[in-house]
Amino acid sequence: MKIETCFLIVLAFVFTHTRELTQEPGHLKPFGFAKSTQTCDEVDNFPPPDVFFNEYVFKRKPLVMRNAAKLSPAFRTWTDDYFLQVEEPSNHLVSVETEKKEDRSQEVREMPFSEFVSSYNTSGIYMVNPVPPFIRQDIILPCCMQCPFIVEGKLVENIMWFSSGGTKSVVHTDSVENINCLYRGDKQFVMVDPDEYGDKVDIDHPEGSYSGVDVDSVDYTNYPGLADVEFYTINITAGDCLFIPYKWIHQVRSFGNNLAVNIWWNHFIPKDVSLESCNKDCDLQMTLRRVDFRGFDQVMESVDAIKDHVYALVSRLTDCDYNKFLNGLIGEDIKFLKDNNIPYDLLMRKMFQEMDLDEDGYIHEKELDKLEEQSWVRVQQIMEEFSSLIKDAESLDNGEFRFKDEL
Ligand SMILES: *[C@@H]1O[C@H](CO)[C@@H](O)[C@H](O)[C@H]1NC(C)=O
Ligand SMILES: *[C@@H]1O[C@H](CO)[C@@H](O)[C@H](O)[C@H]1NC(C)=O
Repeated sequence: MKIETCFLIVLAFVFTHTRELTQEPGHLKPFGFAKSTQTCDEVDNFPPPDVFFNEYVFKRKPLVMRNAAKLSPAFRTWTDDYFLQVEEPSNHLVSVETEKKEDRSQEVREMPFSEFVSSYNTSGIYMVNPVPPFIRQDIILPCCMQCPFIVEGKLVENIMWFSSGGTKSVVHTDSVENINCLYRGDKQFVMVDPDEYGDKVDIDHPEGSYSGVDVDSVDYTNYPGLADVEFYTINITAGDCLFIPYKWIHQVRSFGNNLAVNIWWNHFIPKDVSLESCNKDCDLQMTLRRVDFRGFDQVMESVDAIKDHVYALVSRLTDCDYNKFLNGLIGEDIKFLKDNNIPYDLLMRKMFQEMDLDEDGYIHEKELDKLEEQSWVRVQQIMEEFSSLIKDAESLDNGEFRFKDEL
């Protein structure tokens, strides 16, 4: 074949290829519109803990648990009337988002729970806040995770998602395991298996582990990988729960008056834990009031978690220099650090140098592969020092600082 012919063929391929993308099903349609071909296992009620962990959690497979949320008193008792007559401490506030279509730079307001309940139907506000302490007794810890290795220190956080419906989250991943139970309305989860299509979904905001793609209108010219993805589209209705494995990519929409509670727990539990120790019969008294949520800081206490986090970051960034690294790790919160004169720079440079083995000013995955365990331990310790710096500043500032990928 002559060189020119070859060139023309390549050119023709490039042209047809780019033109085809805009013709592909799903272009300028909602996220997950095309090729929702994957289906997820479904069971009725919570499975026994050994089945749940061996078949789903450890294999990182999602699971729909129909009717499982009906076990909690909340399924019957959580009406707006009940919320309005329950006694709320006078200084109690919840965080409320002001936009139903998630935008991570939107204004978040604080108000008493009762004020939220009185006004959410008409104002379009969206409560995203841990379950208020005075109603925590109404939610039973999912039976399939009533195990000492979870309850004793691995519960991270719970969140109540409450709105009049029509909310849309961004496409994102969580750095923890997640069970979401629905008490009112319908929800649709569009999910992507990160092992199969992780490299096709452009998480272009690594500091918050989310994608900037418009979930109402996916433009394949900006996000070409999405044209190839096969999605899981999972509908759940009031009474159902869904397990979303660690790092699974997901996007959530809600329909109708909507109330869900999710529980996040630490992915990093030893694989040789005894599943024998889990409750065989569900303990209906083990409610959210009786268990302890340790927050996101404790996730970063483990070296494995730090490793995972840094690898994910470095693999997403080309030419990861110090500034990109810092931005990827803490993003816009650098401003908070600067405004509060927190001396983060020296610590963060120390961490960067620990991983920049060849001292060329960039961290590469190959360098991470060569990093000795002791170096990872030091990286983890620096991370911990950094967290405590922030906590000190937070207690002074009284402001909101969180790692952006917490939600
Ligand atoms: C909000 O609307 C729902 C129906 O969608 C209704 O059941 C509920 O009582 C309303 N809440 C308030 C406080 O008006
Ligand atoms: C899932 O819910 C959405 C929104 O209500 C609906 O359009 C869709 O048809 C449902 N899919 C299935 C399989 O029920």
